[in-house]
Amino acid sequence: MSIKYSAEAAGRAAAAINERVGSRHATIGIVLGSGLGGLSKTIDDAVRIPFGDIPGFPDATVVGHEGAVIVGALGGREVVALSGRFHVYEGHPAALAAFPVRVFHALGAHELFVSNAAGGISPKLAVGDLMMISDHLNLMGTNPLVGEHQDSDLRFPDMTDAYDPGFRRILRTTAERLGIILREGVYAGLLGPSYETPSEVKMLRLLGADAVGMSTVPEVIVARALRMRVAGVSCITNAAAGVTGAALSHAEVLETTNRVSATFESLVTEFLSRSAAPQLTAVR
Ligand code: HPA
Repeated sequence: MSIKYSAEAAGRAAAAINERVGSRHATIGIVLGSGLGGLSKTIDDAVRIPFGDIPGFPDATVVGHEGAVIVGALGGREVVALSGRFHVYEGHPAALAAFPVRVFHALGAHELFVSNAAGGISPKLAVGDLMMISDHLNLMGTNPLVGEHQDSDLRFPDMTDAYDPGFRRILRTTAERLGIILREGVYAGLLGPSYETPSEVKMLRLLGADAVGMSTVPEVIVARALRMRVAGVSCITNAAAGVTGAALSHAEVLETTNRVSATFESLVTEFLSRSAAPQLTAVR
């Protein structure tokens, strides 16, 4: 049986991207969450490749997601960014949701920065806060590694410190240096696309979740299977259902990400410059 979202398929997608960008060598991949795609406009010497031009990629369908891979330089590093992602709630297999991470890896990026919009569950989180993801709960009911094993992957990836402790240190010091309040917490990934009920949010709080969203988990699992180092940040776009009693909407999610995008962009850019390989564990 051939594997649809295989390392070989990722190699073909990477080859198509390389054909367009020439001799650039991204060392880190960035996944931009709903409404956070503005970061891609700050990438220098950017080459934008629409999803439709990349073998194995379907078109992006969610409002607030552009649907392009962008290759260029940011924070002094060569980067490849995904503006618009594939969600399991769109009917995609989890393996497709994570496929862009395989493509990043095939391009030579062995580090990953993931971002998302999320609802705040913890009383310590306010709308507009940025939350460094310290860990996640996979409550999507699926896993991108289910199925035939690929030689590129660890069969049973260790998810202890899935969000790299060294990267978390750098994120903390970066935020401090920039005067950005950076919260920390556990991200619960649910299938969606309906938002949670207030009772589900109560359950998530009991389970140890600080924030909830509908993405990220498949990408991080595949990144760990490929031994990539991962950093993650959630933008708290709304209070999760029942926390304040207010109704939830995608419009509010995009309104908040718009408001926070400049702060998010400076955090990511400065993180990139501080995470360049030799200084990885240096305390600055
Ligand atoms: N729940 C799930 N996903 C989300 C939310 C939420 O409250 N906000 C943004 N994405």
